[in-house]
Amino acid sequence: MKTRESGMPEEEMWAEFFNPETIFAKLGLTPDTGGLVEFGCGYGTFTIPAARIVVGTVYAIDIEADMIVATANKAQQAGLDNVQTLLCDFVKEGTGLDDGSIDYAMLFNILHAESPGGLLDEAYRILAPNARLAVIHWNYDASTPRGPSMGIRPRPEQCREWAETAGFYLLAPGLIDLPPYHYGMLFKRPMTMERL
Ligand SMILES: C[S@@+](CC[C@H](N)C(=O)[O-])C[C@H]1O[C@@H](n2cnc3c(N)ncnc32)[C@H](O)[C@@H]1O
Repeated sequence: MKTRESGMPEEEMWAEFFNPETIFAKLGLTPDTGGLVEFGCGYGTFTIPAARIVVGTVYAIDIEADMIVATANKAQQAGLDNVQTLLCDFVKEGTGLDDGSIDYAMLFNILHAESPGGLLDEAYRILAPNARLAVIHWNYDASTPRGPSMGIRPRPEQCREWAETAGFYLLAPGLIDLPPYHYGMLFKRPMTMERL
């Protein structure tokens, strides 16, 4: 099931809202990061810059064939052979990735989903002990030029609570400002494979 209000505007408009390299610098993405996954890759706005940074495989998952094709084409044009696109419904089927197999998961502009806890549980399952989860979302501010309706738009403290309920803990510095329109948070999965 496609998550509510997760359709994309024109790509040129979407790209104007972000500086992925700055966002990844603030969210601690470094070349030594291994396997990485983006839940809902869209146009590959973040998948492609991430694949330029890390050496590991970057799994780009989306339910929309058009988004998968757009991301795969960008990877090919950029000569990136570490991007693997997966056409799948992660709400209904999960990601299909192995338990504990991923070093860095990205939940970007997606936690306004009907069941954010389900996405966070799936991220927890596939992340290795000590691996990281990065979350970004639109500021809780009705004046942003896009973003989910305010009735379903998560506040940062809700994202934190959901992630902690799933078993993650928040890393310093906590809430990260990603101007002009976003905030971010970086979480860690505990060492143990079991939930704390
Ligand atoms: C708002 S867009 C965000 C795209 C990207 N993360 C970004 O920030 O640029 C959400 C994406 O998630 C995808 N999506 C929504 N529900 C999904 C599901 N159940 N399984 C896989 N992808 C899904 C949509 O097709 C869309 O491309």
